[in-house]
Amino acid sequence: MKTNRIQNLQNLLIRDGLNALLITNPKNIFYLSNFRGVSETERESILFVTKTECFLFIPRMYADHAKISVDSSVQIITELSNGLFGSFVEFIKEDWTIGCEAQNMTLAEHRHIHKGTGVELTLTYGLVEELRIIKSEEEIHSLKKAAQITDQTFEHIQTFIKHNLDAGITEHHVIEELRRFSSSLGSEKFGFDPIVAVGPGSAEPHYISQNRKLDRGQTLLIDMGFVVNGYTSDFTRTIFLGKASPEFKQIYNLVLDVQLKSIAAAKPGTSTKDLHEVSTQVFKDAGKKELYLHSLGHGVGLDIHEAPSISPRSDSTLKHGMIITIEPGLYLSNKFGVLIEDLAVVTEDGVELLTKASKELIEVV
Ligand code: GLY
Ligand code: MN
Repeated sequence: MKTNRIQNLQNLLIRDGLNALLITNPKNIFYLSNFRGVSETERESILFVTKTECFLFIPRMYADHAKISVDSSVQIITELSNGLFGSFVEFIKEDWTIGCEAQNMTLAEHRHIHKGTGVELTLTYGLVEELRIIKSEEEIHSLKKAAQITDQTFEHIQTFIKHNLDAGITEHHVIEELRRFSSSLGSEKFGFDPIVAVGPGSAEPHYISQNRKLDRGQTLLIDMGFVVNGYTSDFTRTIFLGKASPEFKQIYNLVLDVQLKSIAAAKPGTSTKDLHEVSTQVFKDAGKKELYLHSLGHGVGLDIHEAPSISPRSDSTLKHGMIITIEPGLYLSNKFGVLIEDLAVVTEDGVELLTKASKELIEVV
């Protein structure tokens, strides 16, 4: 399965006049080789793809894990007496044109290779990401499973909140219950720190959850994603604790209207810039554009935010097999925010929502 991915990358190397690509981004290494270390911030592995071969450099402690998980076309190198980069330096040929991942490699690593070999690495941008943008059936299957877990967890958390609303539960209690319940359904972990935001907290798009109590008369925004086989879902609903105020209802219905119109406009061939513009135009017509603080959506996969971005600055076009979010929101500073987000796959003639939870206004009473 992954062999094709390496071959697809080798075609890009030929297209771009490179002898090889040094891959340092752990998500890209996993995508191509199926090797997954434990840390996404420490350098645990590097993958070196030439036009005909593929080498994975990993410490010996990972040898057993790699033997069973890594694609058979990948040659595993665990003799790293000079460390990961030191051993790589001894391995490469000086007259090669080698690309590196400019958005991932550190300056120190770049210098290390240059000093050790004299090779001037060619900076590349998003080569593996170019392959990752269209998902395979297998990847879509994992994302569908992650979306199902998300729907079921959302259903469960409403009951949990209803039963515990008078017990003084906080945003953190809700997060712990999300974690517990989703793992029982097979989630590996959260795809990102979930946002559980009560009242004014929901007016901050990237709010950091605290010990704020859930109280009647407040909004509750839940933005969460769960990982299956490395792939994350992304989903948001905003509900009301108690009877919704007229102002909340008005804002909620407008955001929902924008989301439904954006979903209807999304299909292969739609420019991502134009799709964002669909959402902006409806908010503008309602006089609320100033309260729309982010873009309409983004690609999702191994990363929570990946290509394509659905924003005014993006120049992509939707294609069959992309996975995107559609997530308009309005934020009333110090009062409340409303965000409605679904995960969707671009089909042959539109999009299919993978998260299927109801979007009727929910009042927990
Ligand atoms: N769901 C988090 C985000 O898209 O920023
Ligand atoms: Mn999102």
